[in-house]
Amino acid sequence: MKPLRIALTKGRLEQKTLDLFDRMGLDTSVVRNKGRRLILPVGDSIEVVLAKAADVITYVEHGVCDLGVVGKDTIAESDGSFYELLDLGFGKCRFALAAPKDADFFGGYATKTIASKYPNVSATYFAQKNMDVRIIKIEGSVELAPLLGLSDGIVDIVETGSTLKENGLEVVEEVMPISARLIANTAALKLRKTEIEELIEKFETLL
Ligand code: PRP
Repeated sequence: MKPLRIALTKGRLEQKTLDLFDRMGLDTSVVRNKGRRLILPVGDSIEVVLAKAADVITYVEHGVCDLGVVGKDTIAESDGSFYELLDLGFGKCRFALAAPKDADFFGGYATKTIASKYPNVSATYFAQKNMDVRIIKIEGSVELAPLLGLSDGIVDIVETGSTLKENGLEVVEEVMPISARLIANTAALKLRKTEIEELIEKFETLL
């Protein structure tokens, strides 16, 4: 039987997932000493693929990976079709609406401008509030946008809150909690049901 192929988001989520594999008694030594290789075995039953977050979803959605480990932030922004199986409990942070300290974000009648790396998450959030906003997509260091006068606020990931604080911004409202999730390709979930269920059980025991 070919190994289950799991796409991991490179970096912190990758490391945390490998820690869980270690605790399952799987051999992660090849991945831990990977060099520049991107497809690596974990024991005999699993093959790990290392990818950027949004690409984890793409590979799982297209069925070239059976499973994936990716943040809820990337899932919430994607419109892909796949199953979300499990909250892995690590990689915890949150989406928040933030604005310059002491600014009355909800005050006034003028349409507000929001900068975000996550335009879909932002649009859904303001639609739920029945609030009409203009959304501008920014690729990184979104905190710059209100500082430069491009936007009234941002919808972004907040972990410790230091980036906001050091740039004179503050949380106006929490939008959504974030953590790492195990996702599955819809066909793989049927075709490799037993193996996937066994893996989920092992994850659940450890979490
Ligand atoms: C993320 C996020 C915030 C920061 C929040 O950015 O977009 O800027 O981390 O963390 P904190 O609350 O602990 O300060 P990241 O470092 O991923 O870089 P980016 O802004 O270029 O996406």
